[in-house]
Amino acid sequence: MEKFYLTTPIYYPNARPHVGSAYTTIVCDVVARYKRMCGYDVAFLTGTDEHGEKLERAAAEAGESPGEFVAEKRELFKSLWQTLGISEYRFVHTSQNPAHRSAVQWMIGRADKAGYIDKRKYEGRYCVFDEMYVSDGSDPVNCPNCGRPAELISEENYFFRLSAFEDRLLKHYEDHPEFVLPDFRMNEVKSFVRSGLRDISISRRRLKWGIPWPGDDEQVVYVWYDALTSYLSGIGFEGEKRSKDFEKFWPADLHMIGKDILRFHAVYWPAFLWAAGLELPKTIFAHGWIYYDQDKMSKSKGNVVYPEPIIKAFEESGAPGNDALRYYLLRDTPFGLDGSFSYEGLIQRYNSDLANGLGNLASRTLAMLQQFCDGAIPLPDNATRDEAASDASSVVVGGPQAFDSLDFSLVLTGLWMLMSRADKLIVNKKPWELAKSALPAGQESLKGTLYRTTETLRIACILLYPLLPSAAERLWKQLGEHGRVEDEVIDSRLHFRQIEPGTVVGKPEPIFPRLDRRAMLHRLRELADQDRAQEEKAAKGVSAKAGSPIPGPEPQIPNREPLASSPEPPKITIDDFAKVDLRAGTVLSAEPIPGATKLLKLQVDIGAEVRQICAGIAEYYQPEQLVGMKVVIVANLQPRKLRGVDSNGMVVAASLGEDGKPVLATFLEDVPNGARLK
Ligand code: MSP
Repeated sequence: MEKFYLTTPIYYPNARPHVGSAYTTIVCDVVARYKRMCGYDVAFLTGTDEHGEKLERAAAEAGESPGEFVAEKRELFKSLWQTLGISEYRFVHTSQNPAHRSAVQWMIGRADKAGYIDKRKYEGRYCVFDEMYVSDGSDPVNCPNCGRPAELISEENYFFRLSAFEDRLLKHYEDHPEFVLPDFRMNEVKSFVRSGLRDISISRRRLKWGIPWPGDDEQVVYVWYDALTSYLSGIGFEGEKRSKDFEKFWPADLHMIGKDILRFHAVYWPAFLWAAGLELPKTIFAHGWIYYDQDKMSKSKGNVVYPEPIIKAFEESGAPGNDALRYYLLRDTPFGLDGSFSYEGLIQRYNSDLANGLGNLASRTLAMLQQFCDGAIPLPDNATRDEAASDASSVVVGGPQAFDSLDFSLVLTGLWMLMSRADKLIVNKKPWELAKSALPAGQESLKGTLYRTTETLRIACILLYPLLPSAAERLWKQLGEHGRVEDEVIDSRLHFRQIEPGTVVGKPEPIFPRLDRRAMLHRLRELADQDRAQEEKAAKGVSAKAGSPIPGPEPQIPNREPLASSPEPPKITIDDFAKVDLRAGTVLSAEPIPGATKLLKLQVDIGAEVRQICAGIAEYYQPEQLVGMKVVIVANLQPRKLRGVDSNGMVVAASLGEDGKPVLATFLEDVPNGARLK
C-alpha cells in the first residue's frame, strides 16, 4: 500500500484556536480522507508548538507555569478537532516530550558535526509574537508580519550557516517545481533566496522555556528549529532511534501551511534537514489567509470567529454545522488565495448550494423513487445508461484531478454542474407526467430519468465525502447503498452503471433544511457574542489569578480597512485613466537614503529599462523584504528629485490607517516585467 504523509503546522497554544487555525486542519482532513479513499496508507500529523518566549509570557500572564499552561491549552486544540470531526490524526507536542527533545538535540549535533553551527555575538530585533528575527540591526523596527514593535536582543548565540545552502536551495527549487506550491509562492521564495541568505541565530540565551542546547545549559534551541523538527518526531523519529513508522512515512508528502510561515518551511527547513543528512519533504503548500470581512482577525478588534458557535447554530436548526462550515470555506475561496469570512456569506452559500442545490435534488429524487418506482432504483435501457455515463464523465475524470491539485473549489464546481444537469433533466422530462403515461416509452423515460439522477447523487456522494463527510454518509444511506461511503475506492467505483437497479432506497429526510436568513444571522451573532462574553469572563478570572501581568509589546495590528474619512475622488473618463501608464516591475535592489528616514531608493526592472524610484516606505518595509517583489509603478510620472536623489516614477501602494501605512500593490500570479495595467 502506498503511503501519504501530510502535516498541518503545529499551532501555538497561547490562545484558543479560531476559524483561521481550523482552516489548515480542515483542509488537511479533506486531503487525508481523499487519499485514504484512493487507497493510501495515510499519516496525518497535527499538534502544538509549545516552547518560546511568547508561550512563556502568556503563561506568566495567566499566573501559571509554562508547563501547566500549555498542557491545558493543548486540550483546546484536541477538543476543537473533535468538534470538527477531524479524522484519524496523530498529535505531537513539543514541550515535556523526551522523544521530541532527543530528536531536536540529535539534529543540532549532526549539523554541528557537519560544520554548519558556530557561536557568535547576535544583536538584532526579534518579534516575540511571530517568534521571528526581524532585523539584524539594533534600530527600532516593526515586525513585517504582525506589525508589532520588534524587541532588541543582544546576546551570544549559536548560528546556523544558512548562507552555505543558497545555491543548493535554488537548484532544488529548479529541479522540483512542486516543492513549493502554488507557483506564485515558489516565485516569492526564489526571489527571497536570490536576494542573498544570511546566517541565522538558532539559540536563545535569556530564555528558559525551550529545549536545552546540547552541551550548553545557558542556551535553549530557537523555537522554529524545535517546531519544524516535530514533523520528524511526530512519526517516531528520536535521532538515532527511529520507528518503523518514520522509516515508512518520511519524507512528508505534503506540509500544508499558511502563507505567513512559508520562509521557515521552504528555506530554513530544507537547510536544517540537509545539515542533518535527512531527506526533504516533497511539497509545501502555502494557502492564503481567511480574513473577517476583509480584515485581519484579532482579539483586540473583537472580530475573531470561532467555529463552535457556528456549528451550534446550524445544528440547532437540524443542519450539519461542520459540513456547512467546510463547504463555505472550501467553495468560496479558491484554495491558495486569501478569503474573507462573513456570516452572510456562510448562510447564503448554505442555502443556495446545499439546501436548494444538493439537498433539493436529493429529496426530489428520493421522493419520486418512492412515489413512482416503489422505492427502488429502476432498471433503465442501455442507451440511457450510456447517456448517463457520458453525463458524469468529466466529473469522474476531473474530480480526482482537481483533488490531486488541491483545487477544492474546482471539485465542487464540477459536482454542482453535474447536479444542475440532473436538475434540468427532471425539469425537462417531468417524471410526474411520465408516470401517468400508459405508453412503454413514457415508462422507459421515467426509469431513465430517475436512474440518471440517482446515479448522479451516488457519484456526488463519493467525491463529496472528503469535503462534507457527514452529509455524504447520510445521503449514501438514503440512496440505499451498503457500507460506508468512506470505504468506497475513488477511481474504481466512480463509473456509471454501478448503482444496482432494484436497490431499495430510504425515506427522503432533509439533510440540508433551508434556513431563514435573518433568523439564522441573528442566532449566529448571538451565539458568537455569548461565546466571546464567556471567553472574556474566563480571561478576567485568569488575570485576577496572575496579579500584575508581565508587560509585552503593545500589538499594533495592521489596519486593512480603507480610511473611512477619505474624500470621494472625482469621476474620470476612461481616457483620463488611459493617461496613467501603470506597469508591473520587479524590485532589483532597495537601499536607505542617508538622512532620509522615510525614503528607500529602489531599482525597479520594468522590462524595457530599470527605473530608479524613491519610495516613502522605509518605516514599514525592510530593504531585503522588497528585493524580488513584484510591484506596480506609475511609469509616466514627471521625474523629480527627492532629498537630492533622482526618482523616475512612483510605486503604487494602499495607504492604511491614520499614519497612512503603505501596503504595496502586487500580483498573485506571475506577470512579466513591463506588463501594462489597464
Ligand atoms: N507555530 C507556528 C508553526 C510551526 S510549524 C512547524 C505557527 N503557529 S500559529 O498558531 O501562529 O499558526 C498556525 C497556522 O495557522 C499557520 O499556518 C497560519 O498561517 C494559520 N493561520 C492563522 N490564522 C489564520 C487565518 N486567519 N487564516 C488562515 N490561516 C491562518 O505559525
